[in-house]
Amino acid sequence: AALLLLWALLAYLIGSIPFGMVLARLMKLGDLRNIGSGNIGATNVLRTGSKKAAAMTLLLDGAKGAAAVLLARFFAGEDAAQLAGLAAMLGHCYPVWIGFRGGKGVATFLGVLLALAWPVGLGCCLAWLIAAVISRTSSLAALFSASVSTFLLVFLGYGEALLLGVLLTLLLFWRHRSNIRRIKAGTEPRIGQKG
Ligand code: G3P
Repeated sequence: AALLLLWALLAYLIGSIPFGMVLARLMKLGDLRNIGSGNIGATNVLRTGSKKAAAMTLLLDGAKGAAAVLLARFFAGEDAAQLAGLAAMLGHCYPVWIGFRGGKGVATFLGVLLALAWPVGLGCCLAWLIAAVISRTSSLAALFSASVSTFLLVFLGYGEALLLGVLLTLLLFWRHRSNIRRIKAGTEPRIGQKG
């Protein structure tokens, strides 16, 4: 149990590195809090105008989720890997370093799933892409992708990770409250729009 807790804590710390914020600062793109949605994720980094910074944020926020899962799995087994996935997501959404005001967890969610159950992760990436191409709306694509994850976990034979998948999906939806409100009101900006 102590080992599980240790991995949860480590995964939380890995997940809590706000790569978008760090990159925006290093590349002198301004303060993400004053741009677009104010969020620290790749979608909002893109609103600074830097595609490069946005792509790096997406990759690094995804990689940290995957790294937390893979490290925990390697050193402590499958239960630790699942817990680490949840902890990394919580770290991204509620990072201790920046007053617990973190991101919405899309990239980290995909990274965790790719590491935990790669066919499911791949399916969710595809679902995001298809929804993004059709709707041109990052948040809507994320909500769609997260919803699909539950079904993919069951139908692709990863039922043992279903509870984790549901928890991650609920957290992702919770973090998109303001986006859901804007989608309903028809005011959610399209990808790349300043918003
Ligand atoms: O990556 C989060 C995305 O789904 C929404 O981001 O900045 O438009 O609130 P944003």
